[in-house]
Amino acid sequence: MDGETAVETRRPGATAGPPRRRPWPEVEEQLKAGLRNHWYALIPSRELGARPVALRRCGEELALWRDADGRPRLFRDACAHRGAKLSMGRVMGDGLACSYHGWTYDGSGRCIAIPTEGGACELARMASVRSYPAEELGGMIFGFLSDETQEGAPDPCPRPDELTDPGWSGFILSHHWVGARWFRALENLVDPLHGPFLHTGTYTLGYGSRQDTIRVEERPDGFFVERVGQKLVNFDYAEYHFPNWFRIDIPYPWTAGPGGPMRILVYVTPIDADNTQVYMVRKRRITGWKWWLWWTLWQLRLRRKMYDVIDADEAILVSQRGGRAIEDEFLAQSDLGIVRLRRMFAEALDAG
Ligand code: FES
Repeated sequence: MDGETAVETRRPGATAGPPRRRPWPEVEEQLKAGLRNHWYALIPSRELGARPVALRRCGEELALWRDADGRPRLFRDACAHRGAKLSMGRVMGDGLACSYHGWTYDGSGRCIAIPTEGGACELARMASVRSYPAEELGGMIFGFLSDETQEGAPDPCPRPDELTDPGWSGFILSHHWVGARWFRALENLVDPLHGPFLHTGTYTLGYGSRQDTIRVEERPDGFFVERVGQKLVNFDYAEYHFPNWFRIDIPYPWTAGPGGPMRILVYVTPIDADNTQVYMVRKRRITGWKWWLWWTLWQLRLRRKMYDVIDADEAILVSQRGGRAIEDEFLAQSDLGIVRLRRMFAEALDAG
C-alpha cells in the first residue's frame, strides 16, 4: 500500500485511463497551514476576556475580541489604515478601536469611525478589515477561516453533545506543539496501533496486544477507524470528523474514580506550517459528587499522568519533520486510517 492519491487528469481528446497518481508530499504542501473554509477551534473561552487576544491560526495573524454582548468577533489582525495590530486595540462598546489612530470597526469588520477625519465620515464607509464568523460553544471559541473561494454562508459549526449536554463534565486542555506539523498530528489520531508502543508503561495506554488489523468504516463527515481485535483496552478506535476534530474513548482503571472511559474531543488546529495547537476536551458522563471526585483525582495525580502520553505524542511528531518522513515512507496495513485520511484531503482539494 502506498501513500499516493489518485487525481483525474484527462487531456482534451484523450481516452479515459487509470487516474494519474500525485505524490502525497505534493498534496500535503497545499495543506501545510490547514484547509480553508472550515471551522477551527481557536482558544478556550476562559482565555478571552475584555481585551482582544492575538492569535496565529492557519498561518494567519488574527485578532479575537468580545463585543458589548460578550459575543466573540474575529478579524485579520491588521488595521485597514496602516496595518497596526488590532489585537493591541481597545474594545469600545460594539466596536474595536485601533490603538494607533483610533480607527474603529464594528463586529462585521466595517469601519465605523475615523476620529482624525471627524468620526463616521465618507472615508470610514469605504474602509473595512477582513472578519470571520466566530462562535462560542461549550467552553471553546471556534472560527470559520475562509478564503476567497468561499461562497455564501458557512456550514454551521459542529455541535457535539459533549459540548452542549450538561450531563457531560470535564476539562479543556490546550497543548501547543512547537515543531509538530498539523497533518502529522491528524495522522497520529487515526493510528490506533501506536498506543501500545509509544505509550507503553503509561497509566491509560500501556496495555493490550501489539499486533492487530485496522478497519475503516465510512461516516457522513469522515470515518471510523478501529482495531479489529480489541476494544477499550488501549486507544483502540477513533471517530474522525473532516477536517480537524476527533472523538475518542480512553479506558480508565477503577482508580480513576467512577464514570467509566474518558471521552476526548480532540481539535487539531494549525498555527502555521510547522506548529500545531491541540485542544483536548476531556469528559465523562458524570455529574454531582462523581464529577467532584474525578476533579479531585485529576488535580492530585491524573493530570500529571496525562502528560506522560501527551509529551510522548508531541516528541514523536516533532521527530517526523526530517529524515524519511513522508518523502520516503513505507506504509503498512496498520496505516489504513492514514491512507483514508489522505484520500479525503486529496479529494477535497481536487473538488476545489
Ligand atoms: Fe490603525 Fe492608524 S494604523 S488607526
